[in-house]
Amino acid sequence: MAYRDVYKSWQDDPEAFWMKAAEAIDWDTPPSKALFDDNAPIYEWFRDARVNTCYNAVDRHVEAGRGDQVAIIHDSPITNTISKITYRELQTRVASLAGALQAKGVGKGDRVIIYMPMVAEALDAMLACSRIGAIHSVVFGGFAANELAVRIDDATPKAIIAASCGLEPNRVVSYKPLLDGAIELATHKPDFTVILQRDQDRATMTDRDVDWYEFQQGVAPADCVPVEGTHPVYILYTSGTTGAPKGVVRPTAGHLVALNWTMKNIYNVDPGDVWWAASDVGWVVGHSYICYGPLIHGNTTIVFEGKPIGTPDAGTFWRVIQDHNVKSFFTAPTAFRAVKREDPTGEFVKKYDLSCLDQVFLAGERADPDTIIWAQDQLQKPVIDHWWQTELGYPGVCNPVGIELLDVKLGSPSVPLPGFGMKILDDDGNELPSGELGAIVIKLPLPPGTFPTLWNAPERFLSSYLNTFPGYYETGDAGMIDEDGYLYIMARTDDVINVAGHRLSTGGMEEVLAAHPDVAECAVIGVTDALKGQLPMGFVCLNKGATTTHEDIVKDCIKLVRDKIGPVAAFKLCAVVDRLPKTRSGKILRATMVKIADSAEFKMPATIDDPAILDEIREALKPLGYAKS
Ligand code: COA
Ligand code: AMP
Repeated sequence: MAYRDVYKSWQDDPEAFWMKAAEAIDWDTPPSKALFDDNAPIYEWFRDARVNTCYNAVDRHVEAGRGDQVAIIHDSPITNTISKITYRELQTRVASLAGALQAKGVGKGDRVIIYMPMVAEALDAMLACSRIGAIHSVVFGGFAANELAVRIDDATPKAIIAASCGLEPNRVVSYKPLLDGAIELATHKPDFTVILQRDQDRATMTDRDVDWYEFQQGVAPADCVPVEGTHPVYILYTSGTTGAPKGVVRPTAGHLVALNWTMKNIYNVDPGDVWWAASDVGWVVGHSYICYGPLIHGNTTIVFEGKPIGTPDAGTFWRVIQDHNVKSFFTAPTAFRAVKREDPTGEFVKKYDLSCLDQVFLAGERADPDTIIWAQDQLQKPVIDHWWQTELGYPGVCNPVGIELLDVKLGSPSVPLPGFGMKILDDDGNELPSGELGAIVIKLPLPPGTFPTLWNAPERFLSSYLNTFPGYYETGDAGMIDEDGYLYIMARTDDVINVAGHRLSTGGMEEVLAAHPDVAECAVIGVTDALKGQLPMGFVCLNKGATTTHEDIVKDCIKLVRDKIGPVAAFKLCAVVDRLPKTRSGKILRATMVKIADSAEFKMPATIDDPAILDEIREALKPLGYAKS
């Protein structure tokens, strides 16, 4: 079937479409129907089914004769090691870890935070939780103790599973002091913490800590515990407008059905093929496409501990693809921009045999045409931009290669996938014709595998996503749809920025800066960066009588954001200014500041209080290398 036919078959009968997709899952109790809408606008998928995620990702492949197939390849150019784990070995590892968690009282519905770098054990930990019905919440290693503490207090985990350290190209990141600091800061205390000791930095253990290997000794392996279709498999925190992260809840059954469907229909891989998503387990891409999607579908997945450049060079991606026979590859545009900057003429590409590779997928941020063209020229393969969000869990807009490769239109992630009724609305909720810019929304119900609520915050779920446009999910992105039905994503409508494919809250950074004793007022904006897409930039106004030098205040602010949010915020640009530009009603004109920083044209806001402040902002930006023209 062609894409149009598949999309139409979903439009004509969504219930039949998803029940058909559900046949690929091994159920303990199969669903009697797909959609339950009695709590609308909270929709539930496969509610009356019973099923286990880990069984579908691991055990069933062993039972079906795939036990000797490699499930996980761990490739670390930082430690110079490669290891391979078969599905049979994975079953033993995961059942053992799950048994040890169970023996210490972790059961169905208990939360477990996972704070681990890119090691295969991170996947063991996720799968072990889902095996026993525990709800995991993975926290990205680049976040500081304070961010971890916020998540501990929200998720109230019974246990935390961590590694002693993570490895960045330029340094060893000791996780244990961050973990201990976070538990100290948090009001909630976990019953115990499991520590995977890594040789690069072995942690000092306390009474609360148990060793990853020791606590599995002599414990019976755990069986898979079937759970209701709506039982959360995980909570993943993502940035919103404020410093309080949003806990995206992922229901078990829809997650299984949808991810399995995407592996062939979008990513174009068959069971047994090698698949690689070069992301991190701390992000949604890591959840869906390093861990769950490929394993549910019976693929081999790669866990890569390295960076696109510098580990050791800009040929790393191509080396991994060649050595492991990767058929389909997923990365962020920023990673390609980094490679392109080091190797514009593709000298490294030529050194490797990439005949195994069929296509490349890009997501996480806007894929700029220059980067796509470079990748197309160098690789001579389809380069597919596709759009999604943590909330959705998998792509909503994509060129569905596994169904049909449509024309690539540069600057567009292509067309909506089954399940996603994309519309463009004006501020009053009226649908806009093709070519006109407005809010991107999705008609409810969202499809299986998306989120039905936010953890501990059902009201915030409604106010953030459903209340603005009744009957629709508000994506927070603005854009348009062309006459061929292709979507164009132009900007965020909120204060979320995207730094190297990482979603960050400028509001969260402002909260940190505002806590500095000398800062009276502040604003953080996202300015354009050639490598990372956007970078955060802070402006601070000082309290009367502040005696610290501007240089020291700027240093303090940069350190504060790094200490409170983490290095991943990449907050390195900051200026002291006398005043911030505001409307007469006192709203800070952040969008205008962004335009000035990027030397873009802008219309003077009609409601601006004092236009002269914009010149002061322009002058403050120049030493930072912005607002040059
Ligand atoms: N643990 C601890 N620190 C981390 C970390 C982790 N897991 N990940 C990143 N950091 C740190 C980095 O060391 C860096 O610290 P520094 O300020 O001391 O140098 C900081 O956070 C910013 O990291 P990063 O955004 O990775 O920037 P970079 O300059 O080190 O590398 C790129 C630039 C483009 C190579 C890199 O951002 C990249 O690979 N991006 C792809 C992102 C991606 O795949 N996103 C997933 C979305 S699909
Ligand atoms: P995250 O939840 O971290 O995946 O970030 C989701 C946001 O990243 C989206 O709302 C978009 O703003 C942006 N995004 C993701 N993919 C794309 C894409 N292909 N093109 C443009 N923006 C994207």
